[in-house]
Amino acid sequence: METNSIFKKEQLSLWLKDGHSNEFPKLEQDESCDVCVVGGGIAGVTAAYLLSEDYKVILIDRHKPAGLTTGNTTAKVTFQHSLNYYDMIERYGESKARLYYQAQVEGMDLIRKLVKEHDIECDYKEVPAMVYAETDEKYKEILKERDAYDKLKIPYELLTVLPYGLPGVGGIKVFNQIQLDPVKYLDALLEIISKRGKVYENTTAVDIEEERNDSYVISTKDNLEISCDKVVVATGYPFFDKSGKYFSKLSAYRSYLVAFPIERRKEEDVMLITNSDPLHSMRFACEGDTKYLLVGGGGHKVAHDESSLASYDDIITFGKKYFPVENPTFRWASQDYVSIDHVPYIGQISRSYENVFVATGFKKWGMSNGSFAGILISDLIEGNDSVYSEVFKPNRKEITKNMSSFIKSNYDVAKQMIKGKVFQKKDDLKDISNDIGGIIKYKGKKVGAYRDSSGELFLTDNTCTHMGCDLEYNDAERSFDCPCHGSRFNYDGTVIEGPAIKNLKRIKE
Ligand code: FES
Repeated sequence: METNSIFKKEQLSLWLKDGHSNEFPKLEQDESCDVCVVGGGIAGVTAAYLLSEDYKVILIDRHKPAGLTTGNTTAKVTFQHSLNYYDMIERYGESKARLYYQAQVEGMDLIRKLVKEHDIECDYKEVPAMVYAETDEKYKEILKERDAYDKLKIPYELLTVLPYGLPGVGGIKVFNQIQLDPVKYLDALLEIISKRGKVYENTTAVDIEEERNDSYVISTKDNLEISCDKVVVATGYPFFDKSGKYFSKLSAYRSYLVAFPIERRKEEDVMLITNSDPLHSMRFACEGDTKYLLVGGGGHKVAHDESSLASYDDIITFGKKYFPVENPTFRWASQDYVSIDHVPYIGQISRSYENVFVATGFKKWGMSNGSFAGILISDLIEGNDSVYSEVFKPNRKEITKNMSSFIKSNYDVAKQMIKGKVFQKKDDLKDISNDIGGIIKYKGKKVGAYRDSSGELFLTDNTCTHMGCDLEYNDAERSFDCPCHGSRFNYDGTVIEGPAIKNLKRIKE
């Protein structure tokens, strides 16, 4: 994949380091189908899988399916989204909180069923999950969450002694959650979808036009067209935003993960997360003979940090402090989108596009939410009533009510970030060493600069091609990232992810 070509194998996720088990063609001619799914993460692949049982389905992906957020997740499949249910009951009442919980259980059950039915080898394992507090103050939040579990009848165990001798006050543990290799899981589903319908990779959708007969035409970057009756937009940040105003109701976050080799031990594997700030998330994974401890954290809004490398330092320090591990052998980062009210947007993309559906805003809990999104969207497309549609519909009243204050706070923060950054004056390009990048002042203009390890210099325009914000350099991933809505560009200007479609212009020396 172009995006990852600059990284060493050790900088790919544990799930992506060995590549994919399948390869799909690029779209080379116009196509037509009943349903076109744009985006090959867990939401898009699950929807395509379910819909391809009854419809002619085409799935397209800008890069390689399962290669971005789903390929870089911790792959914890759990309804325990850190602390969530107390807050949901407070804001929305018991019945909506219960529906949210049931939705996650349905998403998990579907994964369970598909792994079994298709005998998918994806290192599937059922383990408990636990959120724990490191201080007395934070433990009060755990007790509130316990009360919410009681109301929602979620089975749990309250523990005051933490696993692996971790220091802390106590936590709440739930059972039969799932951990797996998300790339192996999705690759297996993609294989099935490609036999029932079609899958195209390296195919970028740029627009959707409504035709007179209630059908749609999706146009691609290569000026090809896919005609269809229904569209599913499952691209993380929606690539199509006519009147849905997603740019003003989603925040883009990056978070970081490392994998430490660790000795196998007798104690059972538990997926863990702290409720501290900064939080730390942990799970174990086995790859052949090697067992790994995965530690994640360091989350922040895209391009709203001083150094992404510093985020890795934090999680490495945490891992080494509490577990018998040396240096991590893999590190990677992932991008997630969060809605205004922390409940995903799943449903009709906007009132004006009746048969275009969206799934986004999984707030870093995309495995259960994404699997559930596939179920809900396939139900909506099949015309089935769903008890969940009101909770997740993108234009719910909770969103429209809070939109203006959200836009203002997002704008203020982005403005601050841009204003606060000092860029280096490097009119002499020779001063840029190999494998160093940044925003420089060149011929009187702010420019993105990166010199690769062979000494080739890349200069790119520093204006995001989405809506024109200034970009920031990401020192861990050698990319230029946008603080406004999370678009990211490789150092050669190629779009990696986010709402931007056009690459950055290269600037000549
Ligand atoms: Fe919207 Fe950059 S992502 S302006």
